[in-house]
Amino acid sequence: MKKMISGIKPTGQLHLGNYIGALQPFVQSQEEFDVNVFIANLHCITMPIDPEELQTNLRDALRFYLAVGLDPKKSTIFLQTDVHEIAQLGFIMSCLTPMGELNRMTQYKDKKDTGISLSSGFYTYPTLMTADILIHKAQYVPVGDDQKQHVELARNTAERFNNRFGDTFVVPEPVIAKVGSRIMSLSDPSKKMSKSDKDGEKGVVYLKDTLKVARKKIMSAVTDSIGIVQYDVENQPGIANLLTIYAALKKISIPEAVSEFKDVQYGGFKKAVADEVCALLEVLQEKHQSYDEAYIESVLQEGADKVRPTAQAVLKEVQEKLGMEILK
Ligand code: TYM
Repeated sequence: MKKMISGIKPTGQLHLGNYIGALQPFVQSQEEFDVNVFIANLHCITMPIDPEELQTNLRDALRFYLAVGLDPKKSTIFLQTDVHEIAQLGFIMSCLTPMGELNRMTQYKDKKDTGISLSSGFYTYPTLMTADILIHKAQYVPVGDDQKQHVELARNTAERFNNRFGDTFVVPEPVIAKVGSRIMSLSDPSKKMSKSDKDGEKGVVYLKDTLKVARKKIMSAVTDSIGIVQYDVENQPGIANLLTIYAALKKISIPEAVSEFKDVQYGGFKKAVADEVCALLEVLQEKHQSYDEAYIESVLQEGADKVRPTAQAVLKEVQEKLGMEILK
């Protein structure tokens, strides 16, 4: 069975973009692949955090992993820091990655000009992500469009390592959803829907939003004055985004979604999208509440225990190849 690895960094509450771009594809892959998903808590501290808020976000994220349908009997779910080898391989990866490559990372370029004081951890975080991926020797990495560049960095590092030190890593491929790999903000459809969106109150539907709030956000989504529901990203980015959300949730193609709303006005169309989103949130929120702490802890414990042997073996192999090990 081919292996998949992916993670989410819950620096804020999970949102509809995370669900459509990542969580839904993880769940759909469970029957066919050995799916490994983790909560990237080291990545969470690359920007300033509030410990209490982080703790809540981590626990909520884990509950949503389960609520969306990730089944611990089929998939492996773990917390990044429960597998210590990842951070150690992360340091090694940072030593094997030229700064020039990190300077080209879009997320770094976008942040560095904002004037925010950035930590060195934020700068090197793509090298930790390289370790997150390569340590599992997985073939596939399902991610949203914004993480593709980081998976490509991991591929480059794997290839470079294999060429220089002998075949070690699997060179992983990014898997990007056909529909919904880049859900846009509802209030500004030129921007990605994002946890760090300052306009989050209006642009982002959080999985924890009340149904009333979620519906209001969809009903107030920015559209245009053209008045026809059609998929035209250039001229009707708001409508195109709502069509994408609808198609992804209904698991239909964009043309199928368009044909459903051929003669429907924007108000009716938005209501249909809101109905779909609210139906999803209702189910997720009910399940979110249903797990007790002992179960959550057992899922994490078992997940880390399952992943650790491979992580240890791969780290040892890498260190041996680099000539770092003394004990056999
Ligand atoms: P993060 O936490 O920003 O996002 C988690 C996943 O959700 C996807 N995503 C979206 N997809 C569609 N539309 C959106 N608006 C949207 N926003 C987010 C992301 O592409 C991602 O798949 N560095 C990563 C976490 C990570 C990781 C890894 C992922 C750490 N190590 C190893 C894969 C493999 C991150 O910050 O994702």
